[in-house]
Amino acid sequence: MGGVTRSRWWQNATVYQIYPLSFADSDGDGFGDLPGIIDRLGHLAGEPDSLGVDAIWLSPIYRSPMVDFGYDVSDHCAVDPRFGSLADAEALIGQAHRRRLRVLLDYVPNHTSDQHPWFEQARRSRTDRYRDFYVWADPRPDGGPPNNWLSAFERAGAAWTFDPDTGQYYLHSYTAEQPDLNWRNPEVRAAMHDVLRFWLDRGVDGFRIDAPHRMGKDLLLRDNPPDVVGLRVPTQTDERRHRNLDDPFVHEVLRGIRSVVDGYPDTVLVGEVGLHHPQRRLSYHGASDELQLIFDFGFWSNPWNAEAFRRSGAHLRYESGQVGWPTHALSNHDISRHASRYATSSGSEPRARVAAVMLATLPGTTFLYYGEEICMTDVAVPSEQATDPNGRDPVRTPMQWDLSRAAGGFSAGTPWRPVPDSGVDVVSQLADPGSLLRLYRQLLRLRREHPCLVSGSYHDLAAGEDIYGYRRDHDGRCVVVLLNFAGEGRRATPDLGGRPSTAEVLASSHTTVAPGSWLELDNLELAADQAVVAELRHERR
Ligand code: NOJ
Ligand code: MG
Repeated sequence: MGGVTRSRWWQNATVYQIYPLSFADSDGDGFGDLPGIIDRLGHLAGEPDSLGVDAIWLSPIYRSPMVDFGYDVSDHCAVDPRFGSLADAEALIGQAHRRRLRVLLDYVPNHTSDQHPWFEQARRSRTDRYRDFYVWADPRPDGGPPNNWLSAFERAGAAWTFDPDTGQYYLHSYTAEQPDLNWRNPEVRAAMHDVLRFWLDRGVDGFRIDAPHRMGKDLLLRDNPPDVVGLRVPTQTDERRHRNLDDPFVHEVLRGIRSVVDGYPDTVLVGEVGLHHPQRRLSYHGASDELQLIFDFGFWSNPWNAEAFRRSGAHLRYESGQVGWPTHALSNHDISRHASRYATSSGSEPRARVAAVMLATLPGTTFLYYGEEICMTDVAVPSEQATDPNGRDPVRTPMQWDLSRAAGGFSAGTPWRPVPDSGVDVVSQLADPGSLLRLYRQLLRLRREHPCLVSGSYHDLAAGEDIYGYRRDHDGRCVVVLLNFAGEGRRATPDLGGRPSTAEVLASSHTTVAPGSWLELDNLELAADQAVVAELRHERR
């Protein structure tokens, strides 16, 4: 990726994903809420000890029966009472902006809750004026579902549920309580565009778009071909096409959404395009008239391996002149936290520190998931408490603010999910200069301030076995990043192309190598799981 001028705020941003139910509970009901988030904004920005992120993305805050924890929306223009009120949402947007934090909401366009008034109307009769807001089809002659499409969630089974009152099936890409909207209906488009305007008028800076690829489905509702019929979600290298998703029609829908959002300055759309095949995923940038940003499923699916990360960095897919912009994330509310995924017998932290250095220094937009800055891991949830329809409870447990307090400082009541009584927390990491939290904070500052990280070009560096190395160059300056993926020492021999190898350390995973100290990079002994960020200098200052 060549030297691209970064002109938009989101191009170098660090976006922090908040799962509102689990961030901070202000009223003691055990559920995180918006006033709780407001109380904790100082953790994120605007204070000397803040992490230093540029934006927050809130998983859905709208009124919802919570079958899919907010991804089943029953009123797009109301805040769920568990989270607070519309006034709280407005206050949160205002308070965040005061701290120079942008706010992204989660827009869930593919489906609504079955308790949304549109669906409640639609299911009343075949001729109801809302009927065509959803996707209905007659049973097959044997009474079975109209075709062989499957829900993305194993527990939900087929993508169709029979409605006995009206004698037809309705389509749901997820649970039966999440009927799919019919975006081919212009009234749906108009109504859902109004939802965007409702929030944009209240000052939000953009949206994370839930499952955009699901909005396009075969107009004729034809069966999925036999080679994909058992595949609930597309796989990594899949060239084969499902008929229940990624229909070209989706691009028209996204252009419509983008044109509404473009009516508001400085806004951004980031899409969760769950197509693992890179080229197909990237087509969701359109001709720069669809999504500006797309999550990179390949990146977070990597095993812990230097070559895997070297080959799969999203920035590699955005050569200069190409539309779109890279994103990097390793955790979110749907996948095992990377502190757990990559844990070894030495625990979670060594690799989490390497990951932090990588996330902060690769070019593109970075997304962090709440708790990753303190190395939160997946928390086992007793089966009687586990209610997520797709088994994701362990990655959504309450933020661990202060484990010396009841419920980890998350709530004055009984938290909706268990909080471990020992382990990592914000309070102790703030007090420890060598903590992961302090490392993230230092790295994010570098990311915001160092010209090479703000707008430097990216160049791969061959640096030796198990080492992922790269350079970020800008205006005659050069920052080198060396990441040792091995659990033992490795000698780094980066090919600096004849540049002098004396370098000043800017950040390091290991507290033994202090920022401001000097290294010779051409022949450097890296300890197990060590990561170093250093700037080449012609001479020591
Ligand atoms: C993707 C979201 O990230 C996930 O949490 C949700 O269950 C599905 N889409 C359905 O909205
Ligand atoms: Mg609460």
